[in-house]
Amino acid sequence: MKNRYVIGLNSGTSFDGIDVALVKFKKNDLTPIFLDGIVCEYPRHIKEKIRKLIVGALRAKPSEKIAQLDIILGNLFADAALRLIKKNKLKKEDILLIASHGQTIYHKPRVKSVQISNGKIIAKKTGIKTINNFREGDIKAGGEGAPLMPFLDSVLFRDLPRQVCTLNIGGISNVTVVGKNITPIAFDIGPGNALIDLITKKYFKKDFDKDGKLALKGKIDFKSIEHALKDPYFKKKPPKSTGKEYFNQKFIDEFFSQIKNNQNKIATVTYFSAKVIEKSLRDFVLPKYDVKEIVVSGGGVKNKTLMRHLVRACHGVPLLTKSDKYGMPSKYKEAILFALLGYTCHLRKPNNIPSCTGAKKKVILGKIIKV
Ligand SMILES: Nc1ncnc2c1ncn2[C@@H]1O[C@H](COP(=O)(O)OP(=O)(O)O)[C@@H](O)[C@H]1O
Ligand SMILES: [Mg+2]
Repeated sequence: MKNRYVIGLNSGTSFDGIDVALVKFKKNDLTPIFLDGIVCEYPRHIKEKIRKLIVGALRAKPSEKIAQLDIILGNLFADAALRLIKKNKLKKEDILLIASHGQTIYHKPRVKSVQISNGKIIAKKTGIKTINNFREGDIKAGGEGAPLMPFLDSVLFRDLPRQVCTLNIGGISNVTVVGKNITPIAFDIGPGNALIDLITKKYFKKDFDKDGKLALKGKIDFKSIEHALKDPYFKKKPPKSTGKEYFNQKFIDEFFSQIKNNQNKIATVTYFSAKVIEKSLRDFVLPKYDVKEIVVSGGGVKNKTLMRHLVRACHGVPLLTKSDKYGMPSKYKEAILFALLGYTCHLRKPNNIPSCTGAKKKVILGKIIKV
C-alpha cells in the first residue's frame, strides 16, 4: 500500500457546516495522525433546506426533497474534500479513501438513522474510493447506531493505564468511558448545543450564541430546570441515543415556555444543557468508573458560559481539558472518527463497539463505493 492518507467528512446534528479532516495512518497502526482540517460552512439557503427537512421528517417522509438534497450535499461534500486535498498540495492518487458520515436528517434509535450526501457523487467527482453509511450495520445488529465515538476513543486511549472519560458537545452531547481493563461504555446525554441554537435562532436571529455572550446576561430560572431534568430520557439507563427528533422546539415549549424574557430563556437553557451533562455523569458514570479527567470536544467548547457552568457543576470531580491535548483537535474529532471508521472498513476490521451501542455482535460498519 503506497499511501494511507484518508479524508474524513462529517456534518453533525447542528448542520453548521462540513468538517473535513486529513489524516494519515502508519503501517499496522490504527491511530489516526491528524494533518489538517477545514470547515466548509453551509450556504444559508442550504441550512434552511436541511432545517426544513429535519423538522418535516418528524411528520412525513418527504422522499423527493430528501433525494434532491442528497445530490446537492453529495456535491458539496465532494467539493469540501477536494478543497482540503488541494490546500495540502496532494493529488487524488495520494488519497486512499474518503470516509463520509454525511448529514443526519433523521435518527430513531435501533430503528432507522438516515444520513444524506450521495456517496456515488462524492466518489465520482473526486475520483476517490468513498465509504459511507456507518450507522446501518450497527442497527441491523440490534444496536442504537450511535454513539460511534467510542471506537476512536478506544484506539486513542487503549494503552493508558487509567480510565478516560470523553465528552463531545455537538448538537447532542455524548460521553464515553474507555480504559485498559474495562468494557467501554458510551451514550448520548441529551442536548448539547441543540436547544441553545434553537433559542438563539428564534429569539435573537443568530445561528448560535457566540462565545455564550447572550446567555451571560439573563437570569436562570432554576424551577423550570428542575422540572425539565425529570424528563424520562435522562432517567433511561445506557446504552441510549437520541437526536433532534426529541430535543427540539417542542421540548423547549414544554419546559421553558413560561420564561417570557428572551435573555432569561437563553441563560436558563444554557445552564440546563450543562446540568444535563452533570446529572448523566453523576447517575451513570462517576459511581462506576474512576474518572480522573474529562476530555472535552465539539463546538460547545467555544460556548464560554456553558463551559463555565460545566466546570462549576462538576466541581470536585474531574478536570476538563480539550481533546487537543491528545492530538485530536476538538473541532475535528468527529471527522477524524469517520476517517478511522472508513480506514477500518477498508481493512475489513470490525469497528462498532457493542457494549456502547447495544448491538448483539461486532460488525464492520461502512459501505464501500468504488470509483
Ligand atoms: N464560538 C462559538 N460560541 C458558542 N458556540 C459555538 C461557537 N462555535 C460553535 N459553537 C456551537 O457548536 C455547534 C457546532 O458544534 P459541532 O461540534 O460542529 O456540532 P455537530 O456535531 O452537531 O455539528 C454550533 O451549532 C454552536 O452551537
Ligand atoms: Mg458541526
